[in-house]
Amino acid sequence: PKPCEVTPAIITKSYACQRRTPLKHHNSFLTEPLEILAENAEFSENEGRSIAFRRSASVLKALPRAVRAMDELKDLPCLGEHSLRVIKEILEDGTSSEVESTRQSEQFQAMKALTGVFGVGVRTADRWFREGLRSPLDLVHTGQKLSHTQQAGVQHYNDLNTPVTKKEAMVISDIVERAVKAVLPGAIIILTGGFRRGKEVGHDVDFLITHPEEGAEERLMPKIVNWLEDQGLLLYQKTTRNSYLESKDGPARPPSNMDRFERCFSIFRLEQTKVDCDEHVDASSYNSGRTDGTEERHSGSSWRAVRVDLVVSPYSQFAFATLGWTGSKLFERELRRWAGQEKGMSLSSHALYDSKQQRYLQANSEEELFAHLGLEYIPPSERNA
Ligand code: GTP
Ligand code: MN
Ligand code: MN
Repeated sequence: PKPCEVTPAIITKSYACQRRTPLKHHNSFLTEPLEILAENAEFSENEGRSIAFRRSASVLKALPRAVRAMDELKDLPCLGEHSLRVIKEILEDGTSSEVESTRQSEQFQAMKALTGVFGVGVRTADRWFREGLRSPLDLVHTGQKLSHTQQAGVQHYNDLNTPVTKKEAMVISDIVERAVKAVLPGAIIILTGGFRRGKEVGHDVDFLITHPEEGAEERLMPKIVNWLEDQGLLLYQKTTRNSYLESKDGPARPPSNMDRFERCFSIFRLEQTKVDCDEHVDASSYNSGRTDGTEERHSGSSWRAVRVDLVVSPYSQFAFATLGWTGSKLFERELRRWAGQEKGMSLSSHALYDSKQQRYLQANSEEELFAHLGLEYIPPSERNA
């Protein structure tokens, strides 16, 4: 047995869902560059490589202090040869040449700008890049055929790429709460996603909605959307019935009520108070002189576009949905990998299936779900893998 060292139990914990990963950590100087490489691998649709970089970064986020020398890493899991090379370079030179040249590359910058349009995925962005397009403005100027979602994405490009603050998320929470309570008294609404994990800013605001009376949540989303639309609060919305049955989530077969799972991708029109507005820029000059065509608006008034995700779940699946929509994305992925590889189970946002027992396991809370999975409970604030 080895003497007790600085990096305690983490050495044996190779799944991110086994570790506590706080939001603020000591190794951003390493994780941020590694995540640039992960993102770049995603742009080239190299998922394996992207996950490898994300896992490396995630291990470093869980460390109790900043890494100062390579030998501190020798017992850590998930650090591949490529990641170690990058880390070594940063420790020695302060930067990694590979990361810096990636950051500067025309392809990376264009892919970042193009995938930054709501409704544009890597495939589409890559096609546009190969056609010579570099930015959302190029889409406008060359008259690209865009879906309704992408049109909204281009129109509100600047707002949607401005981080949503916690304060804004709270205002949106109040609105969503009013909407839901108006159309279904007794409904339960929780903030999920990054804000539930304690983030100070996010790219959107995520909500999960349910009702203690199973079935009462049925067809709820159109009612919520109508209420919001009547109030003039929506700039865009797309409601979809749950597509879980067609998804590639694995063998977990959902119970029969699964098709009631509904979700809505939306863009809210968020009024900004005079005070808020003054903090940023004088209201009268706000957006004046814009000629870039990416955003029409705000002449004199003060509002901004904010992405909001709404999900409705039956009460019996609420724990699964809560766990599935809290994130982080890597934490979720690792939970499913753990379930499959270590437990012979299949986990989704709807259900947990135990292949050995050949049955679904029920759960009324996230705590029960972690217990079913044989994992120590990790609170949302420590799921920032
Ligand atoms: P920011 O919004 O960027 O601040 O971070 P976030 O963690 O909130 O990310 P996001 O809003 O994209 O996703 C929130 C959670 O919902 C993550 O855990 C995702 O894995 C999950 N999620 C997103 N899309 C889907 C989906 O289509 N199906 C399911 N089941 N989960 C999803
Ligand atoms: Mn989010
Ligand atoms: Mn979201």
